[in-house]
Amino acid sequence: MSQRGRFITLEGGEGVGKSTNLQFVADWLRAQGQDVISTREPGGTSRAEDIRHLLLDPVPDEPLSVDTELLLMFAARAQHLAEKILPALERGTWVVCDRFTDATYAYQGGGRGIAFERIATLEHFVQRGLQPDLTLLLDMPVEAASHRVASRLSHQGGERDRFEREHGEFFDAVRNAYLERAAQAPQRFAVINAAESLELVQVAIADALAKRVAAWP
Ligand SMILES: Nc1ncnc2c1ncn2[C@@H]1O[C@H](COP(=O)(O)OP(=O)(O)OP(=O)(O)O)[C@@H](O)[C@H]1O
Ligand SMILES: [Mg+2]
Repeated sequence: MSQRGRFITLEGGEGVGKSTNLQFVADWLRAQGQDVISTREPGGTSRAEDIRHLLLDPVPDEPLSVDTELLLMFAARAQHLAEKILPALERGTWVVCDRFTDATYAYQGGGRGIAFERIATLEHFVQRGLQPDLTLLLDMPVEAASHRVASRLSHQGGERDRFEREHGEFFDAVRNAYLERAAQAPQRFAVINAAESLELVQVAIADALAKRVAAWP
């Protein structure tokens, strides 16, 4: 029997570099000899990506209620866990995921104002105690990150999704909720200063991985 895989998540607001660093984390772990898959939320499987589309559609023909948004996040997560994350962990594959439940606390909790206890109820229902083994929180001031998003949009095209259309106050609340989560679970989180150059961010990520992964049985 192979040992269960480990679950590592990348978190942070818009434009902090989660997607850019996902591959770096997966490659770093592969270089240590691990079997690794990388995935993202909301989404990660075909049905969950359908739900992602409902969540991110910038101009829905009717507004999504705050509770609908929350429930769709967890519906997508339940599918992602059942079809992809749990089977991988069980066969000994490590999973690196671009956003997970901390994003729900940050966006639907901090950003939309849903009480953390209501989110925790759904978290227990859907995850039955599953938590990431390590969460890399990429943190930087909102304004600088929004310049990165604007620059990415101007180079790669595309349009702003429903969340990217929110305003400064919303993103400040998201950032604060993330930092609060990290302060409450310092053994799970590594907070990375994402305002640095990509090279320095990756040195910090590799350092956090080396320290945490080496400490695991
Ligand atoms: N350390 C860095 N310094 C400068 N630019 C960066 C850095 N990291 C990422 N970028 C650039 O910033 C932009 C946003 O990065 P990326 O798309 O990885 O962020 P993200 O956190 O996945 O954003 P989103 O929340 O919108 O998915 C990209 O154009 C990327 O190339
Ligand atoms: Mg991204």
